[in-house]
Amino acid sequence: MQKWVLRTQASNNCAAACGHGHTVCVTGAGGFIASWLVKLLLEKGYTVRGTVRNPDDDEKNAHLRSLDGAAEQLTLVRADLLDMESLAAAFRGCQGVFHAASPVTDDPEKMIEPAVEGTKNVIHAAADVGGVRRVVFTSSIGTVYMGSHHAPGAEVDETCWSDLDYCRNTKNWYCYAKTVAEQVAWELAEQRQLDLVVVNPSLVLGPLLQPSVNASSCHILKYLDGSVKTYADAVQAYVHVRDVRDAWVYEEPSACGQYLCAGHVLHRGEVCRILAKMFPEYPVPTECKGGAGETKKGCRFSSRRLAELGVGVAPASLCLHDTVNSLQVKGLLPRRTTAVADPPVIS
Ligand SMILES: NC(=O)c1ccc[n+]([C@@H]2O[C@H](COP(=O)([O-])OP(=O)(O)OC[C@H]3O[C@@H](n4cnc5c(N)ncnc54)[C@H](OP(=O)(O)O)[C@@H]3O)[C@@H](O)[C@H]2O)c1
Repeated sequence: MQKWVLRTQASNNCAAACGHGHTVCVTGAGGFIASWLVKLLLEKGYTVRGTVRNPDDDEKNAHLRSLDGAAEQLTLVRADLLDMESLAAAFRGCQGVFHAASPVTDDPEKMIEPAVEGTKNVIHAAADVGGVRRVVFTSSIGTVYMGSHHAPGAEVDETCWSDLDYCRNTKNWYCYAKTVAEQVAWELAEQRQLDLVVVNPSLVLGPLLQPSVNASSCHILKYLDGSVKTYADAVQAYVHVRDVRDAWVYEEPSACGQYLCAGHVLHRGEVCRILAKMFPEYPVPTECKGGAGETKKGCRFSSRRLAELGVGVAPASLCLHDTVNSLQVKGLLPRRTTAVADPPVIS
């Protein structure tokens, strides 16, 4: 299918619609990535409406309410992805919509419907209310690389789609749901003449603003808290949460289509070795599961589209360092006594 729609005329006004005096909505505002987005948007002077499922949960929302500018510029509104009316109410009067809400799980019962129907609802609601100039959808690199059609080491870019049969057969319901959701988003945006831009991050790490551990931070926590004794023969690309450029693609008039935000690809063994070097006080696994060694080689993710626009990504070592440091500061990972080394630089 066609990978992106051309920008509509309305999007050309986007740069003029940035910051002070403009209202934008962020779905799933309390999540890991969205919390950083809300923080940045407030710093830029936007009036922000954040959707949460329970605005009365003071503990869960405290990190949002305590952001600089939140008292004056942030409103939390109740919305569920499966309730289109609640989304439309949240989007009314907004010039921009950032769609970041989604379950992050491999449980098909919990994942598929909110990701796919929820994204449909977001696009329809944004089109129905009128006045929304651009929708920025936080998708995933899981929509482009999953499948056996990419040879190890091959470069994957924004022209690729993941193989849905492969996702189904391997029960990778997260990638399946995100791929279907993104395909549906492009189809509906074209039908509804809505300006859609998609950001596709790899696994996102960095400091947490929210009070609890999200799935991608848990991916690192498990190597430090003793809950796993080995690492998988698998590879992954990592990107820093500050390098997920949703706000940037919203403001950039020429932004269109998809932007892979993939960072560096590391084998799990390499991740563990970096963690062990930086944080030798934790029981980081030293052996690869299965005994066959580190055989897996991943794709290479093109960051050409972002790079052409002058956007770079932080080294993976910094992603790991900032995640662990934040887990410690928040008391989600008990501190141990040995001093922490400076992060080694991985290019
Ligand atoms: N973190 C990563 O490594 C990564 C990588 C690539 C792409 N992404 C994508 O980035 C987005 C944000 O991920 P994240 O890591 O920040 O996730 P997260 O911390 O788990 O946050 C997900 C948010 O979605 C909300 N949500 C879930 N189901 C919902 C529903 N039915 N209605 C309304 N809100 C709902 C959650 O609200 P509650 O708090 O009420 O549960 C939460 O605020 C997702 O679309 C994810 O697929 C993440």
